[in-house]
Amino acid sequence: MFTAGVSGHAGAASAQSSTSLADAYRDFPAARTGLCLDAANRHPMTAATVAALNQYLQWRSEGAGGPDNFYGKPQQLETRTLFARLIGAAPDEIALVNSTTEGENVVAAGLGLHRASGNVVIDELGWGGSRYLYRMLERGGGPSVRVVRHRNWSIAVADMDSAIDRATKLVSLALVSNINGAVHDVRAVADLAHARGAYLYADIIQAAGAIPIDVHEANIDFAACNTSKWLMGDYGFGFLYVRRELQDRILKPTRFGTSQILKRTGDGAELELVPGAARFDTCGSLACGPGVCAHAALQYINRVGVANIQHYVQPLVEQLQKELPTLGYRSLTPRGTESPIVSFEAPDLDKALTRLRKVFGIEPVTTGRWEFTGRSGTGYIVRGIRIAPSVYNTSRDIDRLLNALN
Ligand SMILES: Cc1ncc(COP(=O)(O)O)c(C=O)c1O
Repeated sequence: MFTAGVSGHAGAASAQSSTSLADAYRDFPAARTGLCLDAANRHPMTAATVAALNQYLQWRSEGAGGPDNFYGKPQQLETRTLFARLIGAAPDEIALVNSTTEGENVVAAGLGLHRASGNVVIDELGWGGSRYLYRMLERGGGPSVRVVRHRNWSIAVADMDSAIDRATKLVSLALVSNINGAVHDVRAVADLAHARGAYLYADIIQAAGAIPIDVHEANIDFAACNTSKWLMGDYGFGFLYVRRELQDRILKPTRFGTSQILKRTGDGAELELVPGAARFDTCGSLACGPGVCAHAALQYINRVGVANIQHYVQPLVEQLQKELPTLGYRSLTPRGTESPIVSFEAPDLDKALTRLRKVFGIEPVTTGRWEFTGRSGTGYIVRGIRIAPSVYNTSRDIDRLLNALN
């Protein structure tokens, strides 16, 4: 029987935010309803975010009365500013996009990769959709794709060093791996890329809101995420960071619509683009409801502080790293990894999932089926579970999971 946990979830969630992280679960209605250790898949919203969304829905249900947009330019700027603060960027380096994948496609298109030669370097702990993008460009005559393999479940800088050369156009990595939470030494890889004339794109969907990020300090050129995971918002709304010096000069805007127009006063004036990274915004209407969620959630995260969230979650991850191997689960995440994601190969995955469904009525973790290529070139598959606790979880939640799997 695992009983490391001390606190339960007796309190009711309210739109009032808690002040101490030990009480943060009170801010999340989901903490009342069941076990959720799956924030890397879809992070629950705070009650305050749900309240903001309800206000928006109320406004929409009234026929959008009046000319003012509930989620207009001032709220959009605030959202950019809150996100910029979270990742150490400036607001004019942040574009509003629909998804991580859209952001990465804007980067690939703006760099002209579809007609470039050379290579793109990715790694096998990165996002599968990203690999697909570069494979498609390669198939169409674009740069060849180099995939760096993991060593003991992390990507060694030395292996990135061997893969990146003077023909490399872009290095694309997931700062925190969605497979096992491994964290790149992104500054070291960015410096290698820059020394050889390449740019670095970081997929930060599993990092933003989960671990502290400073894109300037890390020398990241481009980064993107959506808001449904550690940013505690919804699908359909995300951010693209474009380092200021690269806007236009290196990353060309490739899509145009009314969002990109600076002045609408005829005589070709509409051909002048809005300043800053906003020219890379989604070119049609924004996803306003999810924008409202992002705005409310970013206020919460900035107030609580990402370093505090990370500090709160790390003992929960450590509890899993310590206890699950005693039940026969092999950790796929290097010990000491400072992200909130930890994955395990299950001794009998089907049995484990059956148990979880029996105890909780759902699977409170993510089931993984991850494909890799061995050093001999043959493929292999690892099946397991990915566990991702967040600020609304307590060590008692980890006990509940461990007891169900025991
Ligand atoms: C690392 C990573 N990148 C990208 C995505 C997909 O994001 P989007 O739907 O915003 O393109 C995910 C989704 O799980 C992810 O984990």
